[in-house]
Amino acid sequence: MAEEILIETQDRVGVITLNRPKQLNALNLELMKQLVAALEAFDTDDNLRVIVLAGGERAFAAGADINDMADSNVVEQVKRNQFARWERIRRISKPIVAAVSGHCLGGGCELMMHCDIIIASETAQFGQPEINLGVMPGAGGTQRLTRATGKATAMDVILTGRTLSAAEALAAGLVSRVVPKEHFFSEAMKVARTIAQKAPLAVRFAKESVLKAHETALSEGLEYERKLFYLLFATQDQREGMKAFIEKRKPNFTGE
Ligand code: CAA
Repeated sequence: MAEEILIETQDRVGVITLNRPKQLNALNLELMKQLVAALEAFDTDDNLRVIVLAGGERAFAAGADINDMADSNVVEQVKRNQFARWERIRRISKPIVAAVSGHCLGGGCELMMHCDIIIASETAQFGQPEINLGVMPGAGGTQRLTRATGKATAMDVILTGRTLSAAEALAAGLVSRVVPKEHFFSEAMKVARTIAQKAPLAVRFAKESVLKAHETALSEGLEYERKLFYLLFATQDQREGMKAFIEKRKPNFTGE
C-alpha cells in the first residue's frame, strides 16, 4: 500500500509528513486513515510530547481529494461519515505544530486549523475555495476560520474563494509565525522542541483550556481554566518547576 504519509520521531517529537506531492497532498481517504492512525499512535506514546504535522514546499495540502467526491451524493456522503475521522483529530491531546508552505486550501486549511501552532512559510497561501466547486467547507472551516479571523475576513475568504497570503494570514490571526521559506520546517521543529521541555501535564491542560475558549462563553471558559489550574498543583512537575525557579536551576520535568 502506498505511503500517503511519512512518520519519524526526533527526540520527544513525532513528525508526520503528508506524502502525495504530485497531487499537492490532496487529502484522499487513505491519507486521512493513515494520518489519524499516526496521530493517535503518537498521542499515546509516552516517549513523545509534541507532534509536528508538515506538508511539502509546494503544498501543505490543496484540499480534500476532489476525485473522491465528484460523483458522490448526499446519501453516500452521510453514510461515509468522514467527519468522524476529523473528530478524532480534534481529540488529540498533545500539541500539534503545523509546518505550512505553499497551497493550504479547503480541507488542507481546515486540517491546519485543527493544529495548535502554525508556522507558515512566506510562500504559503490560505483559502477555502470550496465555493468554486459548488460546495462549502465541511470540516470546520466556517467555524474555525471565523473564530480565528473574525467574520469580515472569513466571509471574504469563504464566499469569494480568494486566498490569503502568509502576511495577510498573520495579520488576521490565522497563523502563529511567518518565516523565510527555507525555515518553515526547522522553525516548527524548534517550536516543538521548546514545548517538549515543558511539563507535559501543564502543556496538555493549557492546550485543552485554550481550545475551550473557542467553545464556551468567557465566564464558563474562565471557570474551566481555573479548575485545571488548581489540578496542576497535584503534580510533582509543579513543585519541581517552581522549586527550580527559586533555586535558579533548570527544571527536570517527568510528567508525574
Ligand atoms: N483534489 C484532487 N487533486 C488535486 C487537488 C484536489 N483538491 N488539488 C490539486 N490536485 C491535483 C491536480 O489535479 C493535478 O493533478 P494532475 O497532475 O494529475 O493533473 C496536481 O494536483 C497538480 O495540480 P495543478 O496542476 O492544478 O497545480 P497548479 O499549480 O496549476 O494549481 C491549485 C494549484 C491552485 C492548488 C489547484 O490545483 C487547485 O485549485 N486545486 C484545488 C483546490 C480546491 O478546490 N480545494 C478544495 C477541495 S474541496 C474540500 O477541501 C472540501 C472540504 O472542506 C472537506
